[in-house]
Amino acid sequence: MGNCCSLQIGLENFILRGLDSIAGHANYVCKLQQTLPTLSAALQELRAQRNDLQSQVDLAEQRLLRPFEQVQLWLSKAETMITEAEKLIADGPQQMNNLCLGGCGSKNYLSSYKFGKKVAEMLQEIRDHKRDGAFEKVAENQPAASVVVRPEEQPIALESTIQKAWSCIVDKDVGIIGLYGLGGVGKTTLLTKLNNKFSTTPNDFEVVIWALVSKDSDVGKIQDRIGGNLGFPDGSWKNKHVDQKAVDIYRILSNKRFVVLLDDLWERVDLNQVGIPKPRQENGSKLIFTTRSLEVCGEKGAQKKINVECLET
Ligand SMILES: Nc1ncnc2c1ncn2[C@@H]1O[C@H](COP(=O)(O)OP(=O)(O)O)[C@@H](O)[C@H]1O
Ligand SMILES: [Mg+2]
Repeated sequence: MGNCCSLQIGLENFILRGLDSIAGHANYVCKLQQTLPTLSAALQELRAQRNDLQSQVDLAEQRLLRPFEQVQLWLSKAETMITEAEKLIADGPQQMNNLCLGGCGSKNYLSSYKFGKKVAEMLQEIRDHKRDGAFEKVAENQPAASVVVRPEEQPIALESTIQKAWSCIVDKDVGIIGLYGLGGVGKTTLLTKLNNKFSTTPNDFEVVIWALVSKDSDVGKIQDRIGGNLGFPDGSWKNKHVDQKAVDIYRILSNKRFVVLLDDLWERVDLNQVGIPKPRQENGSKLIFTTRSLEVCGEKGAQKKINVECLET
């Protein structure tokens, strides 16, 4: 069949020699034997590049990062090209066969010309697209999760306690801060003030999360509050098992410089079960909680314990 094709193509070359407008046509046809395998190889490389990029995008999405639009556009164009190139390659043997059977000027020859042109163009498109797909980064960190500002009353005489707590927050040696005091002394008010201060004071935290942890909240409820803040979708995620939710929360938080503010923590809440990672000095994250009990501060590993006392006025 190789000889048959060579003979046919040789004849066509002879006929077409000197006819510039037709020379291009003959070229597409002559080169089919080379361009088809080259297209197969290029298709394989494009598929590999698409798969690698898609895995990176999947990973980024798991981390709740938003893939760049140009990356998504590249992937969808790659998808279309792959389908088109697969079709051309599948049609290849039939086209080559027709070329061997028909002569120049025959219906088959015209169809082979069209086919050869498509193959050459597709090859060029794939090469260009592969080159355009060299992305350094596939996704950007979501804009620093803006702090959800909570309504606050004008706190009376809390300024000195706020300052004390804030100086612990900026202290890189302190990861866990416990604010303790009797019911009604102003702990929630203080924590609200701190939460809101993150939105007005420059800082390099990536996410600031508030969660109420009162006695009637079970682990699942606390996780839902944290998950909602982290952007986990409402419906499907809430139906997950607590262990799986903990894994999800842990995975996101351990990759971020976070501040978790827990209001009204009590002894039986196991923070590991919730999925909150221990703030480590290297990542500078902070866990700040209020509690009625000094013992809870010790139990939860607070490096700084601040007594919130009754109104100072
Ligand atoms: N320093 C303060 N300034 C203004 N209102 C306060 C202050 N401390 C407490 N309150 C008020 O007292 C009530 C109880 O305060 P809250 O912060 O909920 O106390 P806790 O969380 O310690 O139980 C709330 O109505 C709150 O508005
Ligand atoms: Mg409170």
